[in-house]
Amino acid sequence: MLQLVLPPEFPFDDLCVPYRVDLMRVPDLPQIMPIEQVAFPAPWPATAYRYELTRNDLSVYLVMRPRSPLVVAEHPNARHLLRRHGAVPVVGYGGFWNIVDEAHVSTLAIHPDWRGRGLGEMMLTSLIDAAILRGASEVTLEVRVSNVMAQRLYRRIGFVEVGRRKRYYRDNDEDALIMTTPCVKETAFRDEYARLKAVLRRRLATSRTEQ
Ligand SMILES: CC(C)(COP(=O)(O)OP(=O)(O)OC[C@H]1O[C@@H](n2cnc3c(N)ncnc32)[C@H](O)[C@@H]1OP(=O)(O)O)[C@@H](O)C(=O)NCCC(=O)NCCS
Repeated sequence: MLQLVLPPEFPFDDLCVPYRVDLMRVPDLPQIMPIEQVAFPAPWPATAYRYELTRNDLSVYLVMRPRSPLVVAEHPNARHLLRRHGAVPVVGYGGFWNIVDEAHVSTLAIHPDWRGRGLGEMMLTSLIDAAILRGASEVTLEVRVSNVMAQRLYRRIGFVEVGRRKRYYRDNDEDALIMTTPCVKETAFRDEYARLKAVLRRRLATSRTEQ
């Protein structure tokens, strides 16, 4: 497998942000699967993730964890989280397929207990950064028309709606919006993206977990 190497402290370049992102590995799956079950109406089975991680050269999958047990200890549900997931649990994950010069986001989820803190945005920027490292020119994804929270996140980072796939989701025949970034190599995108990332870094660096 052609393995991506992430720079130290990815996706930021310092230790100020109390979460870190690493490449997903098969031993992470027992922590990923319970999040998958609650995050998606049609969750992928563990075998699909195992295939992505071990067989698919086009795949890049990332996991996010708190940097230190202190981050969990400060959470309002600390006791519950520690009991269920341990001191540095996986709080989110995402992945994409790198097809020619396009990165197609295949999944993105944050554990419900950790949402609303900017971690979805951090995972999305991690995916974009990893896509840039893999040489992608644009990042694209499908999102349920009803998933307005995810759409807001994507729009804020610069994704625009470019089409619709009719009845794309088999569980309820829902349409998918196709959303794409502009060329991620262009200065106009890079400048605005760097600004948004700096704002996010500040927010995460100064955040306490009880928001
Ligand atoms: C979509 C998802 C990844 C966002 O994760 P998150 O950690 O909450 O994301 P952020 O904290 O960065 O917030 C993203 C946006 O959602 C809003 N938001 C987050 N939690 C919210 C809540 N409880 N109520 C209202 N808005 C909320 C934020 O305000 C933000 O909107 P803004 O950018 O306009 O301010 C998460 O909700 C999730 O895992 N959903 C289930 C899986 C899913 O739908 N994945 C996307 C598939 S395409």
